[in-house]
Amino acid sequence: MDAPNKEFAFAGNLEELKVKGRLVVHGRHRPILIMYDRGRVFALDNRCPHMGFPLERGSLEDGILTCHWHHARFDLESGCTFDLWADDVPICPVEVRNGEIWVKTTFGHTDPAAHWRQRLADGLAHDLGLVVAKAVHGQLAADVPRADIVRQVALFGAQNRDGWGVGLTILTALANLLPFLPEEEAYLALFHGARRVATDCDGEAPRRERAPLGSRPDLTALKGWLRRWTNVRHREAAERTLLTAIASGLSPPVLADVLLAAETERVFADTGHSLDFINKAFECLDLIGWQHAPAMLPTVVGQMVAARGAEESTAWRQPDDLVALCEETASQLPDLFAASAARQGWLDHATLARELLGDDPVRIVDALKAAIRAGAAPADLGRSLAYGAALRVARFGTANEHADWETAHHVFTFANAVHQMLNRIGTASADGVAAVRGILHGAMELYLTRYLNVPPARIPGENDEHLDDLPTDADTILATLLDAFDRQRQLDLAARLVARHLMLGHSPQALIATLARAVLREDAGFHAYQMLEAGVRQFTVWGNTDAGRHILIAVARYVAAHSPTERATLQTADIARRLMRGAELHQEAGAS
Ligand code: FES
Repeated sequence: MDAPNKEFAFAGNLEELKVKGRLVVHGRHRPILIMYDRGRVFALDNRCPHMGFPLERGSLEDGILTCHWHHARFDLESGCTFDLWADDVPICPVEVRNGEIWVKTTFGHTDPAAHWRQRLADGLAHDLGLVVAKAVHGQLAADVPRADIVRQVALFGAQNRDGWGVGLTILTALANLLPFLPEEEAYLALFHGARRVATDCDGEAPRRERAPLGSRPDLTALKGWLRRWTNVRHREAAERTLLTAIASGLSPPVLADVLLAAETERVFADTGHSLDFINKAFECLDLIGWQHAPAMLPTVVGQMVAARGAEESTAWRQPDDLVALCEETASQLPDLFAASAARQGWLDHATLARELLGDDPVRIVDALKAAIRAGAAPADLGRSLAYGAALRVARFGTANEHADWETAHHVFTFANAVHQMLNRIGTASADGVAAVRGILHGAMELYLTRYLNVPPARIPGENDEHLDDLPTDADTILATLLDAFDRQRQLDLAARLVARHLMLGHSPQALIATLARAVLREDAGFHAYQMLEAGVRQFTVWGNTDAGRHILIAVARYVAAHSPTERATLQTADIARRLMRGAELHQEAGAS
């Protein structure tokens, strides 16, 4: 192709095009297909927007261009597709000047951010993975802030599904990790989150808005009402009460206390998912802005009021009545915290965590009460509970059934959510410590899962073990770790490599990015995202200490137990990235 002339470049002669019907021009730009159809000339990207097959090899009939790879059909004039899964073909301006064809070789949009925002809306609405991937990539390339992308997807998810779901949880978990992620992993994280939200909403009834009450009752009444409506499973009443609490201007910590008090009316409700979703809704609002609280927060209410509690299960009643033990202890909490209010500086988190792993529920509760007397705040108990639950995962014995990983995972992510919520509430609780029941429920569930550590897996790096048979260099350790995740059942090797990396004082950030890479290249299950994010959140509390190391070992063992997968999501993300960067995906095929 000749040198550009005022952005247009010479592409060929009209007579030649009329004879051949189509021409392809190459240069430093992407290949451009020039087509002649019924007296008019058209120019478009020669790479099919679906998977890059050369459109010059397609067929043209009645103004419809058909790709011969998966047979997507396009309107030749506009490039718009008749098959939404394939996406639209970018077109470019073309002019005929004195029998010569000139094309503008740039495919850019006048407002790329707006264009890709609309395409993300389209992709989400129709659950089109490739379109979502391109739109996320396009927005990032247009320097749209990551938080803006998260906000668009989160609001779509809240409006197009009748309740908070797995997709919004994954989106929020991955958005929380964005500060740890390099560019490539950030793109993957946003794509995974958006894709899962779109899938969650596909075919679902949209959310119906409710309104706050006309009155503004005081906090005590609102808190009591939400607990009441949760107990009698009255969703409409609970949503209006929560909307009223938001409209009353209650702060996020007070709202957290109100919701956690209602949520813990049931014991370990919905295997912990319900509380985890509530925590994620709060975290989502931290990311996208609390002005969206009326749209986001009520989405968790339906599941909260409908959830089944563990009080209905035999395991919590026999041979010990753990529900009664929790209720009795909960009744003592206000006095216990009141008596210890003046004490500060309690730091025995790790010791308490190990006591929570005991095999006597009464002793476990006694350990919690002793910690409170010694000055432990609710959030301190949450930190210990989360570490204890992480140790349960880190020591998960492979003699268990594979499905038992999820049992270990549920306690850990529940404990992390309780910890985050109690951290958020801080001293904002107005009428006691109802929300602290979450600690008791988590501690008893942790007790019930003690069989998962029989026999316990050995944690590498203990007792002066130096792991000197492993590489020393950080890059080699991390590459070996990714390689381990490439093969099945490499739990012990993955754990040892994590321990080795941290014990040598290498960058935790690089290790976290590698663990994220390991999850984001897989068709990860819901729990894998949760485990990764909860582990990273808990690691940041402890830093590179023995406890921090144990927590990331837990993450690595869980990921290793669930890898590798087919990686179809990664393939879609990779195709989108290559198409967006202008690469030719089918060079060999197109060369003939
Ligand atoms: S339809 Fe063109 S590459 Fe799939």
